[in-house]
Amino acid sequence: MSILIKNARVVTATDDYVADIFIEGETIKAIGNNLSEKADKKIDASGKLVFPGGIDPHVHLDMPFMGTYSSDNYETGTRAALFGGTTMVIDFILQKQGNSLQAALEEWRGRSDNNCIGDYSFHMAVTDFNENTKKEIQGLIEKEGIVSFKTFMAYKGALMIDDRQMIGLMEEVKKHGGLINVHATNGDMIDYLVAKHRVEGKLSPLYHYLSQPEITEAEASERFVDMSYYTGCPGYIVHLTCEGALNAVRNATRRNQKMFVETCIQYLILDASLYEQNFEGAKWVMSPPLRQKKDQDTLWAGINQGLVQVVATDHCPFKWEQKLMGKDDFSKIPNGHPAIENRMELLYSEGVNKGKITLNKYVEVACTNPAKIFGMFPRKGTIAVGSDADIVIFDPNEKHKLSAKTHHMNVDYSGYEGWEVTGKVKTVLLRGKVAIENNHCKIDKGYGKFIKRNKVSDKI
Ligand code: URP
Ligand code: ZN
Ligand code: ZN
Repeated sequence: MSILIKNARVVTATDDYVADIFIEGETIKAIGNNLSEKADKKIDASGKLVFPGGIDPHVHLDMPFMGTYSSDNYETGTRAALFGGTTMVIDFILQKQGNSLQAALEEWRGRSDNNCIGDYSFHMAVTDFNENTKKEIQGLIEKEGIVSFKTFMAYKGALMIDDRQMIGLMEEVKKHGGLINVHATNGDMIDYLVAKHRVEGKLSPLYHYLSQPEITEAEASERFVDMSYYTGCPGYIVHLTCEGALNAVRNATRRNQKMFVETCIQYLILDASLYEQNFEGAKWVMSPPLRQKKDQDTLWAGINQGLVQVVATDHCPFKWEQKLMGKDDFSKIPNGHPAIENRMELLYSEGVNKGKITLNKYVEVACTNPAKIFGMFPRKGTIAVGSDADIVIFDPNEKHKLSAKTHHMNVDYSGYEGWEVTGKVKTVLLRGKVAIENNHCKIDKGYGKFIKRNKVSDKI
C-alpha cells in the first residue's frame, strides 16, 4: 500500500513548510515538492495542518484500580485515541506487592495482546522493590524494551513505595539505561488528611481536593528531584499540577539538573471550582486533583520555559455507576478522568488557537518529546524520511463541540461536555494505513503493535 499526501503544511517540533509526503508500506519514503510517485491512494491536504501522530505517554486501560477496572479496554481506548489524533499510547503495568514484575507483565499482556488498534507500550510500575525485583530490571529494559519504571509516592498500602526502595530502584534503573516516572505526592500526609476528613464527616468530592493540598505535591516533587540528583538516575514527574511542584524542578536547574516534567491537559484548562458542587464533582476526582487558576498560568509558562516537556492525559476513565462507589465517601470514588480522545484538539484549541503556545511547541509537547524521552525517536514523534508514517491531517478552522454523545471513549459522561473547540482531527494514518477517515475507524483490533523502546538518556 502506498499513499501520496499532496500540499501538506507539514508541522514538526522545529519546522513548518509545505510539501508532499510519499508513504510506502509502514514508513515515510519521500518528502518534497511536486512529488509524482504513483500511489494507491492520494490525499489532498490543502488548507490543513499535517503533523506527527500524537503520543500519549500516560494512560490506564483496563486497569484494576480501587476495586474496579478503568472502563476503556485496549480496543476502545486506542480507537478513541486514534479518533483524537493520538496514534500511540504508553500504558502502566502495576506490579502486585509480593509478586514479580514478570507476573504483572504477563497479566497485562493477557488483556492487551491482539486487542490494540493503535500502537502501544508499557511503563512498569514497581510497587515492591526487593532483591528479586532488582534482578528483573535489566531484562525488562534489554529484552522487553520496557525502559521506564513508574513509582508511586502515594496510594499508601496499595502502590506506594518508601524512599529506601526508591533509591535502590533508581540505582538499578540508572545502571541499565532506564528512567523513573513518579507520581509525586506525599502519601503519608494525604493518608492523614483523608482519615481526618472522614472522621469529621466531610465526605463530599470537595474533600478529595482538600486532602491533597499543593504542599503534598511540592514536598514529594522536591524529594524525588533530590533522590534523582543523588543517584544520577533520569527522572520524569508525571501529571505535575502546580506552582509549588514546578518550583522544585526550577530550583534543580540551578545545579544543572535535568528533570523531565509532564502535565496533563486537564490541569491546563480546568480548575478546582468544579469540586464545589455536590456529587457531580466526582467526574473530576483524580489524583492529584485540579488546582487553581494561578497554577494553570504557571503550567502554560512552564511549557514555554522548557520546564514542562510533555502534555499527556492520565486517561483513567470510570463510568458514572463506578464513580457512584464513592457517593457517601470521597475516598471510595475511583480516581481518574477520560481525555484520551480530547487531548490533541483541546491543546490545539486552548493552546495554539488562543495564542498560549506556538504550533511547533504543540507538536513538541504532544508528539515529539514523548518519543524522545521514552526511547522511540525518530521512529515515532516526527515527520521525516524513514519514520513510521503516523500522521494527522488536521483542520485548524473547524469548530465543534465535545460531548459524551459523540465521543468514542467507553464512558457515559465527558469532563468537557459542551466545550467549543476550534480545530478537528480529520484523517489519521498509523504506520502507513488510513486509521481514521470521514469519522470512521478503518482498522481493527490487532493492528496496534507493541513498540519496543530503546534505552534513554536525560538529554533530549
Ligand atoms: O487519578 C488518577 N490519576 N488515576 C490514575 C492513577 C494515577 O495516579 O495516575
Ligand atoms: Zn498518578
Ligand atoms: Zn496515571
